[in-house]
Amino acid sequence: MFTIRRYPDPVLTTPAQPVTEFGPRLAQIVEEMFLTMYSERGVGLAAPQVGISKRIYVLNCEEDQPRDGELALINPEVISIEGEQYSDEGCLSFPGLFAKKRRPMRVTMRAQDVDGNWFEVTGEGLKARALLHELDHLEGKVFVQDLEPVEFVKIRKKLELMKREAKRAKARA
Ligand code: NI
Repeated sequence: MFTIRRYPDPVLTTPAQPVTEFGPRLAQIVEEMFLTMYSERGVGLAAPQVGISKRIYVLNCEEDQPRDGELALINPEVISIEGEQYSDEGCLSFPGLFAKKRRPMRVTMRAQDVDGNWFEVTGEGLKARALLHELDHLEGKVFVQDLEPVEFVKIRKKLELMKREAKRAKARA
């Protein structure tokens, strides 16, 4: 199991590198990411969140998260977006923190699987939100960026607290 990196860990704001090697080692990382995500009750997890700066993320937006609801996207790209939604969003790197965020309602993406084969995936609602939230992680963006001012004001204090906690933890180490 991986340890989840929390804000303001610099790996979260560093753009991730494309994956060039496919096969069993990659499949193992992906499996470990799923297990880490489930243990934290998340619907998505990006590799930078476990300290791996590669363009990989995993997702399971199905109710009760059956294993056949799993999606692993390697080197993902957006093909098209449509519509708009505005609802609560959270992130395993920001435990207990939620804010309303504007996202497209529907997205179609292409990505490679662990063997390097390209596939397409379309998501709507929560799945679209998760697909794009995790993609942002690969660009070194975290969800608290580009919030509406009224939403940012609500979480500002908590963000400052997270920064201070990280500083204290560093001083102890
Ligand atoms: Ni996240």
